[in-house]
Amino acid sequence: MSILVRGGRIVTAADDFVADVLVEGERVALIGTDLDAAADRTIDAAGKYVLPGCIDPHTHLDMPFGGTVTIDDFESGQGSAACGGTTCHVDFCIQGKGQTFAEALEGWHAKANGKTLIDYGFHIAITDLGDDERLAELATLPEQGITSYKLFMAYKNVLQVDDETLFRAMEVAAASGALVMVHAENGDAIDVLVREALDRGDTDPIHHALTRPPELEGEATNRAIQLARIAGSPLYVVHVTCREAVDPIRRAREQGWDVWGETCTQYFFRSIDDLAQPGFEGAKYVYSPPARDATNHDVLWNAVRTDALSAISTDHCAFLWDGQKTLGKDDFTKIPNGGPGLEDRLRMIHHFGVREGRISLNRMVDLLATQPAKLFGLYPRKGTVAVGADADLVVFDPERRQTISASSHHSKCDYSLYEGTEVAGAPELVLLRGNVLVEDGDLVGTPGIGRFVRRARFGEPLETGAAIPS
Ligand code: URP
Ligand code: ZN
Ligand code: ZN
Repeated sequence: MSILVRGGRIVTAADDFVADVLVEGERVALIGTDLDAAADRTIDAAGKYVLPGCIDPHTHLDMPFGGTVTIDDFESGQGSAACGGTTCHVDFCIQGKGQTFAEALEGWHAKANGKTLIDYGFHIAITDLGDDERLAELATLPEQGITSYKLFMAYKNVLQVDDETLFRAMEVAAASGALVMVHAENGDAIDVLVREALDRGDTDPIHHALTRPPELEGEATNRAIQLARIAGSPLYVVHVTCREAVDPIRRAREQGWDVWGETCTQYFFRSIDDLAQPGFEGAKYVYSPPARDATNHDVLWNAVRTDALSAISTDHCAFLWDGQKTLGKDDFTKIPNGGPGLEDRLRMIHHFGVREGRISLNRMVDLLATQPAKLFGLYPRKGTVAVGADADLVVFDPERRQTISASSHHSKCDYSLYEGTEVAGAPELVLLRGNVLVEDGDLVGTPGIGRFVRRARFGEPLETGAAIPS
């Protein structure tokens, strides 16, 4: 099957030009003006952008958490991603206490099996390093294409690891070519503040945010940076929300240290005030770290514009409001932490970031596709539009108007963090390795089409032109 995408405005992290793209099989075969090529199908992309498929480096599909399981499995989550212009994501495979990494990975591969609509990889979320055997196993994960780990410095007695575990994982990463990711909040101090709040009878959703102040994110971020520096490992700080965490990341990067940070769509738009909404509506906005004071919105836009932060993910971790979030009706600590958003990232960042002049179109592509690909061992096979790369393409109509709503999104979540928000610009057609996934905004891909991607070691390229091993 060949497809000719005719006359679109091709936008990568570096370039912006009008040309044709010829797709042959799974890959981009040619890019040029007025290509004299026959194809099985021609798509008129005049007036549209042709973007690389976006990559979401931070999602939680079918994940047990907070006494329940995230509502989107691989089929609904990836379908939602596809409709939002995301063609590859890296999900967190959570190691249960006492589990080997092999056991954990087997479980996550089984969750995905037969349901996939986009390509995907796994990060390992380390919860238990146990003995030397587990450390040795960790060192072998890059051989299976698992080249990043997340460690939680918060969620005491659930996912949190101590500094020894974090530091030992960093040493293994440094030696084996993996990237260490941290959830940076001081879980011990948060635990004290939470118990004090409950003792006072403070049980409403707003106390989720009040017991996780930004200083505790800043402290943990700085601690992780210093530990990674000693261990010699690269570090990626996930879901950065505030000035207290941006500042140490910016300083480390100015020193030339191997430190990167991401923020998530919701932190540009939601604030601590949302958690105070009446009628338990605030529970919709309970995720960690919490939404901050709205002054942080500009801090984050400035950080992504100036490369203090290098990627925007969704941290899609969706729970129903009715039946899952309500587990915490009388106690905010029982509200499962997380929110939806896989489908909304490109539209929200395009409208409020690019159209409203906060970042350039090239920078948007960099933040949503190219940097995630480079940092997580997917580049240059993914994350750009180039000859030899996977034909993961988004034909994006910058004028298509949509109203974001739970009533029209493809996630199973019963609410949207951006309900009623009007945006201009939406994906019209999405290709995954040359297969049409989304046509005129509708999902047309068949489950099973998405493939597991063995990612390259940190800093190494993922070869183009070769078949993806499954
Ligand atoms: O509240 C959140 N962010 N839930 C997902 C787990 C995590 O910390 O990323
Ligand atoms: Zn986290
Ligand atoms: Zn997360």
